[in-house]
Amino acid sequence: MTTKLTEIRAEFEARLAALSDLDALEQVRIAFLGKKGSVTELLKDLKNVSGEEKRVLGQEINLLKRECEERIAATVQDLKAKELERMVNSAESYDITLPADLSTGSYHPITMVRKELVQIFASMGFIVEDYFEVTDDYHCFEALNIPKNHPARDMQDTFYLDNGQLLKTHTSAAQNAIMRKYGAPVRAIFPGRCFRNESIDACHENTFFQMEGIMIDENISISNLIYFMKTMLSEVFRKDIKVRLRPGFFPFVEPGFELDISCLICGGDGCPSCKNSGWLELCPCGMIHPNVLTAGGIDTDKYTGFAFGLGLTRLAMMKYGIKDIRDLNSGSLKTLTQFHK
Ligand code: DAH
Repeated sequence: MTTKLTEIRAEFEARLAALSDLDALEQVRIAFLGKKGSVTELLKDLKNVSGEEKRVLGQEINLLKRECEERIAATVQDLKAKELERMVNSAESYDITLPADLSTGSYHPITMVRKELVQIFASMGFIVEDYFEVTDDYHCFEALNIPKNHPARDMQDTFYLDNGQLLKTHTSAAQNAIMRKYGAPVRAIFPGRCFRNESIDACHENTFFQMEGIMIDENISISNLIYFMKTMLSEVFRKDIKVRLRPGFFPFVEPGFELDISCLICGGDGCPSCKNSGWLELCPCGMIHPNVLTAGGIDTDKYTGFAFGLGLTRLAMMKYGIKDIRDLNSGSLKTLTQFHK
């Protein structure tokens, strides 16, 4: 009997060594441990043995059975690992021409608005630039004609790092770098995440998105600014949007304006999202202040330009009827995926 056990063990090992997939492994499992498997048969045959011999033999067969089970479990892991390795290493396992399965995810509403704006501005000849979220006092304030202790800084409290750097409070922080990089003439937009040390409510967040734009060339005037803003807004909302231009003060533009659009959530009647005014400040803008152009190395005798700082977050809220700004950073898929087109 013991010889038989040794033979079965040897045969089991030989068959394990020869197989290379899970189907073959299952066949081996059936052949040894299945209802009519050789190990199972040995256990059945025990009934013909008696006494001490039965006890010893029973132990040996059960030991063999446990060994076989453990070896099979280990081989399953082994084969799965090899299969994974093969898939990773073989080029044909990736078909990059397959269409993406968009049903498993969706763009964030702000991403959708940003992509749309980028397309609109790119079609009008604007380049798209990126900029850091961490910058310094010079780029965020001083280069924008906001010297130390200027009261305009009150509106833009932010988060300061130990090394003196800060989280940018507005996308305007990139203006200087872009002027330095491209010189004039230039048309550029630069979308980005901004931060303010704010208390949060339905229309204020400490983390939000803006999209800045500048256009610098000879003879640029307020008419150019109005033209580009109107074209952009009518494209974004695909309908005529009521806008109003009010004087607005920003140290880096002169003259400066607030471009408001009528609140699309309440239709202009007043609601919490528009602070009951019926209007939403959407896009402050103006003619770039000569000090800012000079800081950016631009010749102010030859060039003028306009700048605007579009509230991307606000625009997304308007466009998709999102009432509470906090939903946007909530990470709630239930809320965010419903805007997917
Ligand atoms: N950076 C300003 C802010 O966040 C917005 C702004 C105002 C940007 C006027 C501009 C501008 O480019 O011309 O409050």
